[in-house]
Amino acid sequence: MPYAHITGWGMSVPHKVLTNDDLSKLVDTNDEWIRDHTGIRQRYVAGENETTSSLGVEAAYKALMVAGLLPTDLELIICSTSTPEFVFPATACLIQDKLGATNAGAFDLLAACSGFIFALNMGAQAIRSGSAKTVLVIGSETLSRYVNWSDRNTCILFGDGAGAFILQASEQPGGVQGAVMHSDGSGGEFLSVPASGSAHPASEITIHTGMHFIQMDGKEVYRFATRVMGQATQEVVEKSGWKVEDLNLIIPHQANLRIIDAAARRLKLPMEKFMVNVDRYGNTSTASIPIATVEAVQNGRLKAGDKVVLVGFGAGLTWGALAVQWSGPLPSEHFVTAEWYKPWARVRSLFRRISHGVESIFSGRGE
Ligand code: UT7
Repeated sequence: MPYAHITGWGMSVPHKVLTNDDLSKLVDTNDEWIRDHTGIRQRYVAGENETTSSLGVEAAYKALMVAGLLPTDLELIICSTSTPEFVFPATACLIQDKLGATNAGAFDLLAACSGFIFALNMGAQAIRSGSAKTVLVIGSETLSRYVNWSDRNTCILFGDGAGAFILQASEQPGGVQGAVMHSDGSGGEFLSVPASGSAHPASEITIHTGMHFIQMDGKEVYRFATRVMGQATQEVVEKSGWKVEDLNLIIPHQANLRIIDAAARRLKLPMEKFMVNVDRYGNTSTASIPIATVEAVQNGRLKAGDKVVLVGFGAGLTWGALAVQWSGPLPSEHFVTAEWYKPWARVRSLFRRISHGVESIFSGRGE
């Protein structure tokens, strides 16, 4: 059975930074309260032309560059997101088109902030089963579009961004060693966007009562998170035949510094074992773990051979963890890079759109 190695990684955030001081001009809050209660100092928010797919594409190109692959090498694209551009088509398909990943099937996965763990596990299983050799897993969010900017309980927490991993099959032992995934739908109401889905389609009432915005019972989510982060880490470590003391690094979902601190105390590990960057990005939901991983590699905190656990929790309720023996890029077989491929991908997409139109005329629909 082949092993699923993480051979490429990339991240992307919007251009605009929103500081705590900026937020204090919108709602009754202040920098000190936000830093003390969450550890967040700033977050990035998407501009008009920045979308879940554009951020995802940017992160994906960077991951392809690290892996030395072209978009045409991809066989599967999984985009984890809670803020898709449409109910359908899937954001993964928009990304597939923008990348020019002509050989890939693409679909979205929704498990909120745990989504990247779930998606990475699905990608790794596709490789382990032999159904794919090269998989792109993306976590991308534009949560700012669902935030009620007059609700100080939620608007201070969230940020936008994307992260991407390339998974590749190899006979060499390593890569994803084990995963655990959990859900408890009875806690769904603690964190939700009540309208926009088929239960409550858009209406005058849903708009006037703010049902299209993120709604959260912060205390319940906090209680749940501090319980499951340590539990899931312990569980995946045991499942992978490791010990918690063996871990070089834990990369948790970046929701709140206090939640990470509680997980560290529960696992009896020092905070130095945890990757933390919530101060600069806020909670980017499913994008937070890959963004933190990219920074861990860039800062030299994650090296080939290291044992690392990625652990997350979120709406659903969902929670999960993944144990990885970190590898790195496999030897590349290409002379051109994914970056060079970008203009071709744009032309290809345009050509496909024109040819759909031409086909439709010749098949009689244009009459
Ligand atoms: O990916 C999962 C996403 N969600 C989470 O991770 C959320 C988990 N929960 C949390 O992180 C925390 O519960 C929060 C950060 C949301 C809130 O922190 P807290 O320490 O639980 O604060 P609290 O809700 O108990 O509020 C304490 C006080 C209240 O005032 P009173 O009633 O004591 O007078 C709030 O009204 O702080 C007030 N407050 C604020 N004050 C200034 C609440 N939000 C703010 C604010 N600025 N933004």
